[in-house]
Amino acid sequence: MIQLGVNIDHVATVRQARMTDEPDPVWAAVEAELGGADGITVHLREDRRHIQDRDVELLKETVGVKLNLEMAIAESIVRIASERIKPDQCTLVPENRQEITTEGGLDVVKLKRRVGKVVERLHKAGCIVSAFIEPEESQIKMSADLGFDAIELWTGAYANAKNSKSEVRALKELENGIELGRSCGLIVHAGHGLTYRNVEKVARLEGFCEFNIGHSIISRSIFVGIREAVRQMKELLIRYSS
Ligand code: PXP
Repeated sequence: MIQLGVNIDHVATVRQARMTDEPDPVWAAVEAELGGADGITVHLREDRRHIQDRDVELLKETVGVKLNLEMAIAESIVRIASERIKPDQCTLVPENRQEITTEGGLDVVKLKRRVGKVVERLHKAGCIVSAFIEPEESQIKMSADLGFDAIELWTGAYANAKNSKSEVRALKELENGIELGRSCGLIVHAGHGLTYRNVEKVARLEGFCEFNIGHSIISRSIFVGIREAVRQMKELLIRYSS
């Protein structure tokens, strides 16, 4: 069955807006689990704009489902992931200090030497390692060559499509990406920009194992609570993927 990883970064964004101790992402993770989340995803950014080291340490102790750490390939972060936290899964993402959110996939072709070493270190720490990439043939094949277990295909082109032609093209690229990824022996995830309104067409594509969704779920949770917001998204995923 399709798995839902709930990204709780934006609970920490609200906390950091006042540099206080609420709302606590650790509480959010408990609520997300009670709503049916199969995984909890957090991004420990180098600038620590939302999730803090303390959050990741506590989540490692308390999360009962899969803990997925999104991370840059920066040495300081790789050390935290491979030596201190050792999460169930690490998703390697690009990181740019000026960006509001992750803007596209990691270029594993350009960065293959550095990325390959990071994959090795995270595997030694016992983590499943996933590459957040754009659905391009060269990126997918290189992810397999570098030893990744999984790829998370960037769904941003679909989510940002301004007309049906670009939406159809983005969905076709995702469909081809799933097929190629699976034929290379990779587990295929999806994420970025998915919402209650747009998730249907992506969930209907056959072959995605996991969706990582954050902003839309946390936004809805302001009105209905995290547990209910997660329950509603999980229901949509199950309905459209079966
Ligand atoms: N997957 C990855 C790799 C991401 O970087 C993000 C954003 O942090 C997400 C999924 C979730 O994206 P969104 O908040 O748009 O649902």
